[in-house]
Amino acid sequence: MKSRTDMRIYRVADLAPLAEIPLVQLTFLIEARYHATQRKDLRELVELAGRVERVQAGNRSWPKELGRLLQEIEEATADHLAKEEQVFFPMIRSGCGAGASGPVQTMEREHEDDGRARARLRDLTSGLVAPPGADTAWRALYLRLQGFSDELMEHMYVEDKILFPRALCGDLED
Ligand SMILES: [Fe+2]
Ligand SMILES: [Fe+2]
Repeated sequence: MKSRTDMRIYRVADLAPLAEIPLVQLTFLIEARYHATQRKDLRELVELAGRVERVQAGNRSWPKELGRLLQEIEEATADHLAKEEQVFFPMIRSGCGAGASGPVQTMEREHEDDGRARARLRDLTSGLVAPPGADTAWRALYLRLQGFSDELMEHMYVEDKILFPRALCGDLED
């Protein structure tokens, strides 16, 4: 079985074809592949965490700040994705090239915020490992949070390492 690190390398290697598809197509692919999934996942995770919290309210092992953190991540994500979809990606599609450097810096800063939120999520949940005696719903929540966290990291990798450098060149034929 692959370790988590091996899996990450495997998935990043798998993303190499994204460097080859036309830039405009890449922006639409990111919206369809990552943005739609991330919105749906967060909506469901906030609901699921609320349901588990109601059952575990008296359990000292339950991370009391988890629900609030997930709501904060959902709000910040909604804002970030809206900026990309309504402002930044249309700029890229118009071939603005180096003119996108300001928005690129803003998006990179917000990705760093996402990275800090992921770290906070791991801190609160002991690395997303449910404690002994946790029920099925609690374990299922952590499993889904792990999937969300991995997906978020892949999404940021595709934008930071593939989309942004190509956008700054601005050649739509690339
Ligand atoms: Fe994005
Ligand atoms: Fe982004």
